[in-house]
Amino acid sequence: MIIGMINAKGGVGKTTCTCNIAAGLASRNKRVLVIDNDPQANATSLLLGDQVPGKTLYDLLLGSMEEDPSLFSAEPTALPSAAQRISIESCIYPTIHGVDILPNSTDTATLEFDLYQNAANYGLLRRLIRSYAQENYDYTIIDCPPTLGAVWVIMAMVAADAIIIPVSAGSRMSLDGLSSVYAAVEKISQKANTELKFLRALINKVDLRTSASKLIVETMRKRFPDRCFDTTIPACTAVEQAEIFRTTVLKHDGASNAAKRFRLLADELIGLTHG
Ligand SMILES: Nc1ncnc2c1ncn2[C@@H]1O[C@H](COP(=O)(O)OP(=O)(O)OP(=O)(O)O)[C@@H](O)[C@H]1O
Ligand SMILES: [Mg+2]
Repeated sequence: MIIGMINAKGGVGKTTCTCNIAAGLASRNKRVLVIDNDPQANATSLLLGDQVPGKTLYDLLLGSMEEDPSLFSAEPTALPSAAQRISIESCIYPTIHGVDILPNSTDTATLEFDLYQNAANYGLLRRLIRSYAQENYDYTIIDCPPTLGAVWVIMAMVAADAIIIPVSAGSRMSLDGLSSVYAAVEKISQKANTELKFLRALINKVDLRTSASKLIVETMRKRFPDRCFDTTIPACTAVEQAEIFRTTVLKHDGASNAAKRFRLLADELIGLTHG
């Protein structure tokens, strides 16, 4: 199953949840691939630490994007020939977290304009990764940047089977974009990818000592009955520390509350998806 992590709001925990759910699934003996589909490359740094990957999603996309019959053809991007295309295997790396990663790099941001220009590219990630991911992994999780209309998110929605929307119980505003993500999923599922569905919202950064956090959890459960994971992720200093050490919380402090919840969440996800 291929899952996209999407919320247009920044800082809600898309990357943290991508990497830690992936590590949780791996701890349950699932074969897991993380695709870092965000040119900020935060998932890459969390899962690979100091290791600098040789090839990344940048190389893979550059080698395969459709030429643009563009409005701006006066300065066309020099696109590679088929001979320069590279294999997906050469862009995938094992990590100490038991999951593989297709990493990203900040260079990828330079491809956005050309990719966006030609709608044939919206299916590019799907064409590149889908059958490989289905054959080699039980779960593939695609981390996305904090936006909705950008080409990265469109490509992820066209490539995925399901979308998880992480929200932060620390911010009322992280709920505001939810209906637009939901509407985008509906649209893509009608037009470009009939397999796509909204799986669950994931409530992150829960601090039940605060009434604001409690209220957000209640609001979410009312607004999306049966569409939120039962398991929530607590706001936990171990998660912040793990980020500083560029690792998962499962690796940094496997006994922490957050690590326990991520393992439970992996179980809930496996149950939901009959994995
Ligand atoms: N459960 C949590 N407890 C404590 N801190 C958390 C938790 N989840 C995420 N964080 C912290 O919140 C910050 C934002 O998290 P993260 O980078 O995962 O969000 P994001 O949605 O991927 O951000 P962006 O939109 O920029 O991609 C990070 O510093 C992360 O360590
Ligand atoms: Mg992120």
